[in-house]
Amino acid sequence: MTKVSPSMLSADFSKLGEELRRVEAAGADWVHIDVMDGMFVPNLTIGPLVVKALRPLSKIPFDVHLMIQDPIRYVEEFAKAGADMITIHTESKGNTMKTIKKIRELGKSPGISLNPGTPFSKVKRYLDKIDLILIMTVQPGFGGQAFREECVQKISRARKFIDENNLNVEIVIDGGINRETGKRCVDAGATVLAAGSSLFSLKDMEGEITLWRSFGSGQGGGSVQAPPRTPLL
Ligand code: DX5
Ligand code: ZN
Repeated sequence: MTKVSPSMLSADFSKLGEELRRVEAAGADWVHIDVMDGMFVPNLTIGPLVVKALRPLSKIPFDVHLMIQDPIRYVEEFAKAGADMITIHTESKGNTMKTIKKIRELGKSPGISLNPGTPFSKVKRYLDKIDLILIMTVQPGFGGQAFREECVQKISRARKFIDENNLNVEIVIDGGINRETGKRCVDAGATVLAAGSSLFSLKDMEGEITLWRSFGSGQGGGSVQAPPRTPLL
């Protein structure tokens, strides 16, 4: 079964707590929290204080995606704030291996992410040290961008490498995911779909998540009729 990780970047920031509860009630497996520092990417979002404030409201695993310049400086704060998974970018500054090790020592699940322009070969050496690889299918920084089809072959490459080496690593896809692109990613080997705009714009988030979770399990792959989408606006 495919896991779904709704991205809080598309939530209503004036009521983050309620939005988190909505995600949990809709049956999400994880919640994706996008951290941006205005340096690694041009946007600024949230920090450990917000993660800490949200933590007591839900038991859902926090999948924290750090789009920041020098992640080793902040992993401990995010771990203490309640992150369960902490993903750093291979393009960021600092010693990636050391940062992964530190996340592990903090008792959290390390992840590595790569931008659309970064080849899979750049992250191979981390694969036996991490719990998830987060493949970006848009340029990081903003929600609501179009899915980059050329990244699908990177998913297949990661799937092949993970299977051949008998590794236990989730393949998370992030950027431009909707029911069509998400299905293609799962067919290519993805195990987790992170998505903001396509989920938060729906009245029936639960129905959509249920559909996505069925991808790859022999259901919902064309034979099952998808329920109609019900946009909020
Ligand atoms: C983009 C973030 C994504 C973003 C995805 O830099 O990493 O997690 O929220 O948003 P959508 O699903 O709207 O492309
Ligand atoms: Zn993200």
